[in-house]
Amino acid sequence: MTDTAGPTDTPTDPGAGTDAAGVLRPPAEQAFADELAALERLDDRPRPPKWRLSPWAVTTYLLGGTLSDGTVVTPKYVGARRLVEVAVASLATDRALLLLGVPGTAKTWVGEHLAAAVSGSSRLVVQGTAGTAEESIRYGWNYARLLADGPSRDALVPSPVMRAMQAGRLVRVEELTRIPADVQDALITILSEKTLPVPELDTEVQAVQGFNVIATANNRDKGVNDLSSALKRRFTTVVLPLPATLSEEADIVRRRVASLGAALRLPADLEHLAEVERVVTVFRELRSGVTADQRTSLKSPSATLSTAEAISVMTNGLALAAHFGDGRVGADDVAAGLVSAVVKDPVQDRIVWQEYLETVVKDRREWSDLYRACRDLDPA
Ligand SMILES: Nc1ncnc2c1ncn2[C@@H]1O[C@H](COP(=O)(O)OP(=O)(O)O)[C@@H](O)[C@H]1O
Ligand SMILES: [Mg+2]
Repeated sequence: MTDTAGPTDTPTDPGAGTDAAGVLRPPAEQAFADELAALERLDDRPRPPKWRLSPWAVTTYLLGGTLSDGTVVTPKYVGARRLVEVAVASLATDRALLLLGVPGTAKTWVGEHLAAAVSGSSRLVVQGTAGTAEESIRYGWNYARLLADGPSRDALVPSPVMRAMQAGRLVRVEELTRIPADVQDALITILSEKTLPVPELDTEVQAVQGFNVIATANNRDKGVNDLSSALKRRFTTVVLPLPATLSEEADIVRRRVASLGAALRLPADLEHLAEVERVVTVFRELRSGVTADQRTSLKSPSATLSTAEAISVMTNGLALAAHFGDGRVGADDVAAGLVSAVVKDPVQDRIVWQEYLETVVKDRREWSDLYRACRDLDPA
């Protein structure tokens, strides 16, 4: 990479997360442009209309692998191959994809990478909230134009969904179940008829081949705005689980922390991320309400304690170690992040945490440094 590299150049470290222009978080198609280009070049399997890669290559992009020319594709998602295959296969049909799971199970992450690999762009996205209006799914108007010239194609402001339909691309709808039910209904016609009527112009927009929807929903939001059965039928639901084992979860955390650390230029000793195991152990024990040896049952705090939060505890620890320590992440560097991840509710969660600290952490001889570091923060 040269000094004159423009914003479309890819970072030297794939997935490092910054580019020449110093963009904090380039979209997946930019951060992993080299991998995507190599896959595109070597991919000789059939591609569905408008797809940048074959379903096989999309799956390889997500799960990682080594290509015939030696290019190493880094794993983006760590988990069951079948889940990814089902997701990709669904996108190749006329059924939309719904990624469901508790917070921090990589729903957004997987959706972004799927869109990047299939359509070459992950940027068509609707962020679902209680305030999401129909314009975000259908279209809106440029009111200055509308008042001056009346309704016309030029006055119409297409939504990301409409643009995806016209371009034959994937559009992501984040947190679908937070969107009010009547607004969700706008998706039904789009998914079943593949058209979007524009009665004001007496016309309609027809979806081009390659169009499809990737939605995400948090299954803790169940009951907020449950999907109607009409809408549910248009989706293939893929549930993203929490990592099955400690070593799998620690592996995910280690990979992400290494890549985030590189992006933030943290000059830390990434080889020595031993704290990862402890942080993940604490998270898994509190989440499941029982110690790893299944002997002691525990109260669970209100916080989710997802893999994503373990990643952020470790990244903060890395910053502390890099800037104020010797670069090796130790108990002192993770203690504060750990406590703030667990204690979200100052009363209930604090009780849960104190109990865990005094009954579990204290008793583990090789955890005495962690016990001390946590006690020092919060002398009870
Ligand atoms: N199984 C997994 N494989 C790879 N990364 C994961 C996995 N689970 C969680 N992560 C990481 O955790 C973070 C999860 O974030 P996100 O996709 O925002 O979760 P969600 O949308 O499900 O709440 C991402 O940085 C992702 O890399
Ligand atoms: Mg998300």
